[in-house]
Amino acid sequence: MDFNAGQRLNLPLNPSLSSATITGRNFTEQYCSKIVTFEKALVVVDDLVFTKIGRRLSEAEITVLKGTWNDCDYEEIAENSPYSLNYLQRRLAPQLWDVLSATIGNGERVCKKNIKNFLEVLTPGKYDTQSASSENKVTSADNSLQIIGGQPPDISNFYGRAQELADLEELVTKQRCISLIGVPGIGKSALAAKLIAELSLKSQPRFDYFLWKSVSHAPLIQDLVSELVEQIQTVEPSLTFPEYTQGGTTVLIKQLQSRRCLLVLDEFDTLFQKNSSEQRLEYETFFRRLLEEQHQSCLLLTGRVFPNEFDSLIRAKRSIQYLKIKGLDADAAMQLLAAQGLTNQQKCHDLIKKYSGNPLELETVGERINYFFGGSTEIFFENQTTFVSSELEAMLDKMFSQVLSKIQRQIMIYLANEIASNSQSISFVKLLTNMKQKHQISLSTSELVKALEKLEYLSLLESIKHPITKEITFTVQPVIKKYILTDPQGLVHTSDVLPILANAS
Ligand SMILES: Nc1ncnc2c1ncn2[C@@H]1O[C@H](COP(=O)(O)OP(=O)(O)OP(=O)(O)O)[C@@H](O)[C@H]1O
Ligand SMILES: [Mg+2]
Repeated sequence: MDFNAGQRLNLPLNPSLSSATITGRNFTEQYCSKIVTFEKALVVVDDLVFTKIGRRLSEAEITVLKGTWNDCDYEEIAENSPYSLNYLQRRLAPQLWDVLSATIGNGERVCKKNIKNFLEVLTPGKYDTQSASSENKVTSADNSLQIIGGQPPDISNFYGRAQELADLEELVTKQRCISLIGVPGIGKSALAAKLIAELSLKSQPRFDYFLWKSVSHAPLIQDLVSELVEQIQTVEPSLTFPEYTQGGTTVLIKQLQSRRCLLVLDEFDTLFQKNSSEQRLEYETFFRRLLEEQHQSCLLLTGRVFPNEFDSLIRAKRSIQYLKIKGLDADAAMQLLAAQGLTNQQKCHDLIKKYSGNPLELETVGERINYFFGGSTEIFFENQTTFVSSELEAMLDKMFSQVLSKIQRQIMIYLANEIASNSQSISFVKLLTNMKQKHQISLSTSELVKALEKLEYLSLLESIKHPITKEITFTVQPVIKKYILTDPQGLVHTSDVLPILANAS
């Protein structure tokens, strides 16, 4: 189910589930019924949640509700499910109680102790179609909580990211611009969509509406600005649109001043990659204006790399926050694999480590295990391999052919070979000494520092700080190591880089 609050405001209540169990009566009458079984209560609550937030209850949420209905504590619920206790109790349940408080709490806080009372007694009229829609009208009168523009990605199976969401909810109140940066498939767009879903649940919303725009096709600036203004006209019909880009940008900024908008530009980095230098310059001015001029909206940018054009804005201490998105934590990644039918804890942990919790890589490997190994991780692990997704491969092709300098490529090759033979991260001193002495690569300390900074910035390597000695060591993810060692397009080991022996110590 796609989350779309804009649609949600006009949604007819979905009778599909309820009519299957309670036929011959209208929806209002159904909700006036006294609910006596868990299954019937679930149908009603699921419909109400759907009406309220545009998504249905997840398997894990239903597991918690059912366990609670049967008077089980969290330990018992976790034991009889594929989910961990920590995940159910600490991550999922608090959010579930928030959603249910907003949906059926009628002003009271719903929690594990009292949910059964709420489910058992659904008071006549309290949850009928009319009250649900009039509640929406309170916010829809000024078009609040609508999503206009494009459709955010499906987040019906979204796991984890509690910390990131908490940080983002705070940041949107303080910053004028937030950028979510990370490797392909790490979950930037999903996180932005989930943030919108969470923000739209708040009783005192920070924004009046959300505007979602994917710019992966790298539109020309005049097209993007006029599309944004046109879309805003759907909630602000009085706007007129001047013909020139700068005029259009002024209209857009006025709109961002008068109403609070969370404007998501998904894959914004392509604006600076696929466009001409003239267009890039215009985009730089566009973003500078959005950041410098006063307004009460927030710009949320998602991208794989942070364009150089933004460096000067950061140096000028503009209101912009850069967030590097990393893989899912172990619990969330386990949920994702469990949803694909993979439940062997140890093997799943190995997979999560190998793919650094990247949800797209894990989904892809899960699909392949299901397809080729009939879902048996055991057989798969006997014939172990590392898959590199086509998205990641395409990004690495581009990095190695267009973005990285010779020194940066040389460092990546050295690290991949070193880690392949020793499986250990490498200290800065070892990196400097070995590259200079053993591999005869001329390199100054400052060159190495700058190159490592850039590589980390591009999410191509990771630094680990020892908690006690504070020594920094560097490593590359297994998927990136595999790409470098196999060099599928011949873009890594080009004639200008020095060959490095795989067993170099
Ligand atoms: N927290 C999550 N829980 C479950 N699945 C997730 C989560 N985050 C992302 N995914 C899934 O992983 C896949 C990749 O996510 P997404 O498209 O958000 O990545 P991205 O970082 O935006 O990638 P790209 O750089 O290609 O735009 C999607 O199928 C998405 O549903
Ligand atoms: Mg994306």
